[in-house]
Amino acid sequence: MKYYIGADLGTSALKLLLCDEKKRIVKTVTREYPVSYPRSGWSEQSPELWWNAFAGGLGELVDGIDAFDVAALAVAGQMHGLVALDENDKVIRPAILWNDGRTEKQTEFLNKTVGKDVLSQYTANIAFAGFTAPKLLWMRENEPENFERIKKIMLPKDYITYRLTGAFVTDYSDASGMLLLDVKNKRWSDRMLDICHISEDMLPKLCESFEAVGTVKKEIAQTFGFCEGVKVAAGAGDNAAAAVGMAAVGGGKCNISLGTSGTIFITDEKFGVDENNALHSFCHADGGYHLMGCILSAASCNKWFCDEILCENDYSSLQNDVPQELLGENNVFFLPYLMGERSPINDTDATGVFIGMRPDTTRKEMLLAVLEGVAFAIRDNLEIAGKLGINIIESTVCGGGARSPLWMKILANVLNIKLLIPSVEEGPGYGGAILAAVCSGEYADITDACNDILNIKETVIPDAVLSQKYEKKYNKYKKIYPAVKELYKDLKGE
Ligand code: XUL
Repeated sequence: MKYYIGADLGTSALKLLLCDEKKRIVKTVTREYPVSYPRSGWSEQSPELWWNAFAGGLGELVDGIDAFDVAALAVAGQMHGLVALDENDKVIRPAILWNDGRTEKQTEFLNKTVGKDVLSQYTANIAFAGFTAPKLLWMRENEPENFERIKKIMLPKDYITYRLTGAFVTDYSDASGMLLLDVKNKRWSDRMLDICHISEDMLPKLCESFEAVGTVKKEIAQTFGFCEGVKVAAGAGDNAAAAVGMAAVGGGKCNISLGTSGTIFITDEKFGVDENNALHSFCHADGGYHLMGCILSAASCNKWFCDEILCENDYSSLQNDVPQELLGENNVFFLPYLMGERSPINDTDATGVFIGMRPDTTRKEMLLAVLEGVAFAIRDNLEIAGKLGINIIESTVCGGGARSPLWMKILANVLNIKLLIPSVEEGPGYGGAILAAVCSGEYADITDACNDILNIKETVIPDAVLSQKYEKKYNKYKKIYPAVKELYKDLKGE
């Protein structure tokens, strides 16, 4: 027997997944941790929480099997976060996460003073508040004593790999989201390093996601009973890993993820850029490239509305109460901008908005508006792809949101595309296990591995009448943001 382990370092939890040699999931372990929001629009996490979740979860994962049979592992994770280590490899400050909006000023400097065209020429992307480069500028301006101490800069999943193997490495898919990588040529951009006042020796070595970057440290291998020399692959950003897990590799595939964030991930074998840079142009974990739109709050909107507002946590029974006849008829609308928004509007000041309530509005309508608002925000990104001449007719879906039949029906009809729901919804962790299998030599390449895995549990086909109704609703939804955009600045808390 041979096993592969994939880990997904998420925003709300770390998920570990054990696969057997037929790529069947044998066991999963989830360890939750909190996000801290020290100020409005900021979000941070301590890397020590991640490591404790990983090391604790790993013990539980291999409990009951002969860990000696684990052939390889790989970590996928939340992208863009800034993890900074000092000369003693100590974490300097809590990691600043992908959905943190504190860098409005630095993002504006990059986009306006350095210029979007220049950034796009250097990196194939423009600055968004959550990207790593503006965070470095923020730290230099606001915490100069911390900035001066930086010896290593890494992404969240790379911190786990570093502690596990001692290898200071990252992969191209995750590195793409730092705004420091020349994505087209797959090398660090000297110009961007100069702009951010850092040197290349502070950055990890670049690898393909499926490349072996080292082996598990001897003492760790002993603790868990691994054989010495168990390989660790470079891993990938969570979206690229999820695409691998959903077999969205090669050209012309699409995967949608509904986790804390929501993403639409469009694969391409060749490098390409959205000339308006509304969609990110990043490397894929299969050695190719992809375009991606990312909304900062997706399943997190549902969690917020149910937990904080309705004070109920049985999400599926709340959704079961929503009458099917209400779909396409709801007059309540919701803008899902709880953490500001990335794609396509790039607005850190944006907040959530409900509109359309009357005295007879019910909580079912408001819950439905939340699910619909997220689907409309994903549609905004599909529209951008359409303008680039990319015609998407179907997509796989992963993440917690994929478990909701109601949400899948809404999404299929709002996007008017066929949705393929795989039997494995744990995209990034499963993708990590696949990367590990490729790294161990089980497959010739990622495509070969993906031919072997995808198992579609259900197909959701849009309904002609309902998608027409949602077309009209989307046209109304589209008018809300432009109408409130200017207000956001005035309403902003100090
Ligand atoms: C993608 C992004 C998010 C995080 C969430 O650009 O920021 O999807 O990776 O984990």
